[in-house]
Amino acid sequence: MNYIRVVVFSIVICGSWSIEQLKFPPSFMFGAASAAYQVEGGWNASDKGISMWDKFLHDRPELVADRNNGDVACDSYHLWRRDIQMCEELGLNMYRFSISWPRLLPSGYPNYISEDGKNYYNNLIDGLLEKGIQPLVTIYHFDLPLSLQDLGGWANPLVADWFADYAEVVFSLYADRVKYWLTLNEPYIQCDGGYGTEAAPFLQDAMLGRYLCNKNVLLAHAKAYRLYEELYRDKYHGKVSLSTLFFWFKPSAPEDQEVTDLTIDHWQGRYAHAIFSKEGGWPRKLQKLLNDNAKKEGYSHPRLPPFTPEEIELVRGTFDFYALNHYTTRRVRRVRLGEPPGKWFFDGSDELNTIMFKDPTWPNTSIHWFALYPQGLREQLNWLNSTYDVKEIIITENGVPSLDPGLVDTQRIEYYRSYLEQVLLAINDGINVTGYTAWTLMDNFEWLSGYIAKFGLYAVDFSQPNRTRTPRESARCYSSVIRTRMIHPTQDSTKLNYV
Ligand code: BGC
Repeated sequence: MNYIRVVVFSIVICGSWSIEQLKFPPSFMFGAASAAYQVEGGWNASDKGISMWDKFLHDRPELVADRNNGDVACDSYHLWRRDIQMCEELGLNMYRFSISWPRLLPSGYPNYISEDGKNYYNNLIDGLLEKGIQPLVTIYHFDLPLSLQDLGGWANPLVADWFADYAEVVFSLYADRVKYWLTLNEPYIQCDGGYGTEAAPFLQDAMLGRYLCNKNVLLAHAKAYRLYEELYRDKYHGKVSLSTLFFWFKPSAPEDQEVTDLTIDHWQGRYAHAIFSKEGGWPRKLQKLLNDNAKKEGYSHPRLPPFTPEEIELVRGTFDFYALNHYTTRRVRRVRLGEPPGKWFFDGSDELNTIMFKDPTWPNTSIHWFALYPQGLREQLNWLNSTYDVKEIIITENGVPSLDPGLVDTQRIEYYRSYLEQVLLAINDGINVTGYTAWTLMDNFEWLSGYIAKFGLYAVDFSQPNRTRTPRESARCYSSVIRTRMIHPTQDSTKLNYV
């Protein structure tokens, strides 16, 4: 978008908007994000336990596009100093990474804490803080210890206590230095993907498993949050939340608004309403619809396992900020007579009788599920702000994939420019967005897309033993936004619009 369009757009949307207002506030935290299994490697280093991802991808390499896995990944387990250096080169205020549960607790339980695991994260945290970079720590990003998966994993109600025990160890080791915490990353992918075909444990139990997991992750998060509240909040003054992945959804036509609202609740409300709404519990309309579906299909139990009143109270209000992972937007419509619902089976279309699709007017990316609609981010931030009682929002993932390993990543530059512009507009709408961690610091193991899909600000050469990291053009652009706190509109968005 060129300068004139920015100004015109700003005038239309926000009234008069001087160039000064295009600045991010001085306290705004710019960051980048990663996750343990995707970058660390060292899958059997020292006394690390085995995670379910280790096991599933060793046994079934065909699940991954390039038949690869995270055994070595970016080798951050050994190259963490270089990772910190990259954060410094970019001028980041914050770095989001996750802790590997089996690295810290090889058995899955707190009976034994790995000394090497503990030190690895100590080094990373201390190294970041030395450079003035805030660590934002995700306690769990998909890599459950296999020992716990063997006992039913996230479908076993005991998992909430197993997780709280693990979180307690993490807080006891690092809460003196870490001020921003995410208990869990994207429970939607964890449950709907994990009890589908998209993520470990690949159990394909969409009718029961994903909903059992859904309730258990809410309880796990709440127990960890309460623990922090009770034992660490007064001492360390940190903030705790969980990150939710949330595609934004727009109706295909005005008559599809109702089904779009249900879709939002299916993706988002199932993981957010219990925590962030005033009333707590499941989103009512969706709960009724899913339970009616279960009845019609002859199940004797409701799809969404009921909460007891005590559980509702345990979970309600367990947040200090909202953590949003936003990538893209979809249109939604009801199926037409005789038409089957959408095929992407964990997206809720099966339950809601809908079709979701990319609007044909939105630019495409090289990845099939991903279209560009930057305004969706601002619309979603406004929706969050008016739907839940959130006082602060941090965008904990946002980024775009490509298949091109090269360093000139024009589409990524435009993606960050246009999405960050929407963040600025949302701040200008009065929404308290206080931080943004770009996904991702460097190319890494992109789950079932292996090393084929690239999201990195830095390119990684996976053929080299030292996994050489080289900044892309987008890294230079992002670092100039951080330095100047500004997006500089120009005629040609690929050139120097970041100074
Ligand atoms: C996950 C990341 C993933 C990214 C891009 C998010 O769903 O948290 O682990 O790499 O999206 O697909």
